[in-house]
Amino acid sequence: MSAAEAFIPAGVPLHKRRLSRIETALIARRNVLEIIPSYAYQRPIISGEMLIRWHMLADPGGMKRVMLDNLSNYPKSEIMRRMLRPAIGDSLFNADGAEWKWQRQAVAPVFTHRNVVALAPAMTATAERAGAKLAAGRNEIVSQMLTATFDVICDVALSGREHFDSHTFSEAITRYFQTAGRASLLDFLGFPPWFPRPGELLSGLAVRTMHGMVAQAIAARRAETAPPADDLLDHMLSAEDPETGRRLSPEELVRNMQFFIVAGHETTALAISWALYLLANTPGHQTRARAEAAAQLQGRAAGAADLAAMPFILMVLEEAMRLYPPVGLLARTVIAEDELCGRAMRPNDTLFLPIWALHRHEMWWDRPAVFDPDRFSPTRRPRDKYQYLPFGAGPRVCVGANFAMMQAQIILSTLIQRFRFSPAAPEPQPVMTMTVRPEPGLFLNVEPA
Ligand code: HEM
Repeated sequence: MSAAEAFIPAGVPLHKRRLSRIETALIARRNVLEIIPSYAYQRPIISGEMLIRWHMLADPGGMKRVMLDNLSNYPKSEIMRRMLRPAIGDSLFNADGAEWKWQRQAVAPVFTHRNVVALAPAMTATAERAGAKLAAGRNEIVSQMLTATFDVICDVALSGREHFDSHTFSEAITRYFQTAGRASLLDFLGFPPWFPRPGELLSGLAVRTMHGMVAQAIAARRAETAPPADDLLDHMLSAEDPETGRRLSPEELVRNMQFFIVAGHETTALAISWALYLLANTPGHQTRARAEAAAQLQGRAAGAADLAAMPFILMVLEEAMRLYPPVGLLARTVIAEDELCGRAMRPNDTLFLPIWALHRHEMWWDRPAVFDPDRFSPTRRPRDKYQYLPFGAGPRVCVGANFAMMQAQIILSTLIQRFRFSPAAPEPQPVMTMTVRPEPGLFLNVEPA
């Protein structure tokens, strides 16, 4: 890589001193990534106390213990659950133990490799539409990618979009992220769970809009006489716990579908957008990606069968999700005493898993701030699987990872083949509320290649 290509993309301001509880709470509302102190990027684990004892773990061995070897000791934290519960209740993502297990078994078949490949034509059609919408000149990329990935998830979840006004739905999602998605000051100050949170009250309307639309789609499916569509909704409607015979209640069904629609498109749209930002700023990498895509695709949009022949496109996406993991921080609660990196974990401690810091950690990465897709070349992949965790790991690994990667590769290769991207003002800043988004958007100049 030439010196000119050693591009250091947008990061977050690092603070070196300890923050007070109020400062942490205020900063977390603005940008969760900014509460990660500079030394979290240099040490395997850091700890502190703020009403509760907390730790931030950014060590591959420790991650493996939390996500695999001692999984049941580290359920999802109450703070995270609180933020998500109004919209998705105790659905798959938020559930634990037996409740989680049977819901996971119910949806897993939708995401087998064979089924995901069968969805590729919908992704190819979306890539075509996304290309047709990009106009020459300055474009805001995230909103365009959100529209593209939203179409695909509606096909998977509901076999179509007829019951969805995608514009109304995505507006409601954005409103929800801006209200409930912001960590509550009251949570940080240790107010009891029954105390009303203003964010939750504000987000209530957005949640009602989304739930109403999902419920309508489910009602329409129940009324249908046509043969089953074999989509996510069908699997959910017929899911049954083999041990108890339990089925999803109507409310659980709505909340699960709601989660799939939100989680299934927002994260993927962000991964593609950040990849385009990085390529726009590194003309050499961009030319290489375009040459690879053009050689394979010869002008047409990509399909599942093309992906193996475009390894550089995959490397760019992997490196984009290292620098900008769409899910930048996870949190767990400690159940019983344990030890991580030599540090004692005690019951009720909060354990943060800052994926963002793990991916930019000075102990695990060479020149961590530099965009270098060749880190992911087949000969130089990260040595430890647990040092790179955009999709989590272990039994709770993202169920939609294959689906997301296929969709991202199809859309990115199709667009980079047809268009040339260059940066436009303003420079985006990574801000995490629920996901790591570029603020105030991602603006790029686009011209036909
Ligand atoms: C680039 C795109 C995506 C990223 C970065 C991502 C990231 C993640 C991460 C980090 C987790 C683990 C959370 C934890 O351990 O606390 C997760 C779980 C999950 N994701 Fe994704 N995700 C993506 C796309 C998708 C898609 C497309 C779907 C579905 C269509 C999906 C559905 C889920 C579900 C249901 C879970 C919970 C799994 C369980 O707990 O068993 N995700 N995702």
